[in-house]
Amino acid sequence: MEDGSKQAEVRSWLAAAVRQRAGLCVLTGAGMSAESGIPTFRDALTGYWAQFDPMALASEPGFRTHPQRVWDWYAERRAGVRAAEPHAGHRALADFARRHPGVLTLVTQNVDDLHQRAGNVDTLRLHGDILDDLWLDPCARQVRGGKVCDPAWAEAGCPPACRECGNLVRPGVVWFGEHLPLRALDAAQRAAGQCALMLVVGTSGAVWPAAGLAGQARAAGAKVVVLNPAPSELDGTAHLVLRGTAACTLPALLA
Ligand code: OAD
Repeated sequence: MEDGSKQAEVRSWLAAAVRQRAGLCVLTGAGMSAESGIPTFRDALTGYWAQFDPMALASEPGFRTHPQRVWDWYAERRAGVRAAEPHAGHRALADFARRHPGVLTLVTQNVDDLHQRAGNVDTLRLHGDILDDLWLDPCARQVRGGKVCDPAWAEAGCPPACRECGNLVRPGVVWFGEHLPLRALDAAQRAAGQCALMLVVGTSGAVWPAAGLAGQARAAGAKVVVLNPAPSELDGTAHLVLRGTAACTLPALLA
């Protein structure tokens, strides 16, 4: 099928989902942010994991071994996220949600805040928020004067540390070996099981349980469409694969 007729097919599924208020679920990955200048993880030349060892930089043992190195890496990524701007694809999703309230559930694996800044404030974030600070360990002095001990009060440093017990501050992302936030995962699985159409945008489909949402949607009867300029592990799960980028294809589909 030609790309033009594939897009027309997807637009007709989208129109039906809107008409029946049956739900559109969109799952995004790092490719969604690529055209805003934030690198992906697994692209062969430019992805983070082509240059760095994920277990050294994205796991709790890695952080405990070299806290400063890991903190500095996240500080650089945080600066990149703060400097980035949402692109036409992020804005198309936010416009769609405004035009069709209650239809879209947006689920992201991305730890940046570009969907939120574009206007999708209720995006379900499966892998956390890179701009958030958390304590590494449960703090022995968590409640002081009726207030929960806040990482923002930590002594400045790389990483910052609790003035009293030395507990370290870590970035609020889900590292390898850690559980996903249960409420977001539950809501995402519910949306995948109930939607009429799922768009899978800019993910390699290599990381579970996020990758499982596409199969779950298909098993429950939804149409599944992958939008990615390159092959992904979810192509075989999809009814249709659109070879394009998020910033070009989403505005055309959702207009
Ligand atoms: P990956 O880096 O694994 O995959 C990025 C995907 O985006 C690839 O399939 C690319 O082909 C595609 N892509 C590249 N440019 C694109 C563009 N302009 N438009 C659309 N797609 C494009 O990223 P994820 O699948 O998100 O975990 O990786 C999943 C998780 O692995 C991430 O959330 C991260 C990582 O370890 C955490 O941060 C916790």
